[in-house]
Amino acid sequence: MQFARSSMKSSIYEEGLARIIYNSNVFLNPKAKLNRDISVVIAKEFFKGRFSVLDATSATGIRAIRYAKEANADPITVLDINEDAIDIIHRNLSLNNVNATVIRDDIRSFSLRSDKRFNLIDIDPFGSPALLVNSAFTLASKRALLFVTATDTAVLCGNKHRAALKKYNAITFDSDISHEVGARILIYFIARIASQYNFGIEPLAVLSYNTYIRLYLKIERGDDKAMKSIESYGFFYKCNECGNQGLYTRYNIEQRCSVCNSRVNISGPLWIGKLFNERESYSDALKDLASTYKANEWRWIIKAILEELDIPFYYYLPEITSRLKKGSISIDKLIELLRSNGYMASRTHFNKSAIKCSCSYSELKGIISDLKV
Ligand SMILES: C[S@@+](CC[C@H](N)C(=O)[O-])C[C@H]1O[C@@H](n2cnc3c(N)ncnc32)[C@H](O)[C@@H]1O
Repeated sequence: MQFARSSMKSSIYEEGLARIIYNSNVFLNPKAKLNRDISVVIAKEFFKGRFSVLDATSATGIRAIRYAKEANADPITVLDINEDAIDIIHRNLSLNNVNATVIRDDIRSFSLRSDKRFNLIDIDPFGSPALLVNSAFTLASKRALLFVTATDTAVLCGNKHRAALKKYNAITFDSDISHEVGARILIYFIARIASQYNFGIEPLAVLSYNTYIRLYLKIERGDDKAMKSIESYGFFYKCNECGNQGLYTRYNIEQRCSVCNSRVNISGPLWIGKLFNERESYSDALKDLASTYKANEWRWIIKAILEELDIPFYYYLPEITSRLKKGSISIDKLIELLRSNGYMASRTHFNKSAIKCSCSYSELKGIISDLKV
């Protein structure tokens, strides 16, 4: 096969079982390895055998190749709109002995003319995935996985309010809880589109890391599935005055804080359902993955993902201790204390200075104010 740009200077990058040629015209980010590693683990544990994949925004072909070599994916379809990417994808597939159908196309036009249906669709564009999500639901099989990356975290997490309204139909405000809020706004946004196609969604895992949010979603067609997702729509609120925070379901939005009666800031609509469904199905495999990491940070993230309580939202401790004029407190000791008082409590991967717990903001504040520090 002739490769038009094969004379361009290229380098080799190795990750998992893939060896990847890349050059300056085609995107490859080694920092997204954690995101790709978790994708491979969840896909492998979910399907436990062959499954079809659409790597819809492929760049070098690295995801398609890793799904093939590490998770048994077959058949594989790879898309990219960039001509240079298509050239590199062909070279990488042959370097790795992986067969795939490679198409230079925009996922949106591909979805209108393709009659193929896929068990896993991976969308990993530059910036927001908002315009590409519709296509995934026309291309998905009845029960499928949809993995989506968003790198427009400034929009989702509360720094760009106008863009959040336009792109995600969401009201946002900047807060210490912004990363979890951003992830849940994106899940809600996808769930809304899913229901238009008569699909329900169940998040299997969420990764908020660096400058991106990655969602690992199970999607399933059916009226009952779509209706069940709708039960998980709601809003996040935080009181400017006393710091009280919590969530409103779709039907009980208040403008005033239930503790001090001041006005609250509201973010949403967003997803208030679970983020880590069926976690036990992939937890051993993720633990094995974590043991391969040299970087403490990545080991810590995986541990936190596996242990965090699956409830909305976390409490940001520096905010509470500063309101109470307390010095810093040991998070591990606080978690122990909460558990010994009969609450559920854990760390959260969304923020190293935060916890999740089953008590209300006021109860937590009471417990922290009694602490001797
Ligand atoms: C962030 S890179 C993908 C990185 C790759 N998934 C990885 O893990 O290394 C985004 C790629 O999506 C392609 N792209 C952007 N919009 C697209 C669309 N609408 N349809 C297909 N490909 C698209 C770009 O050309 C680019 O190569």
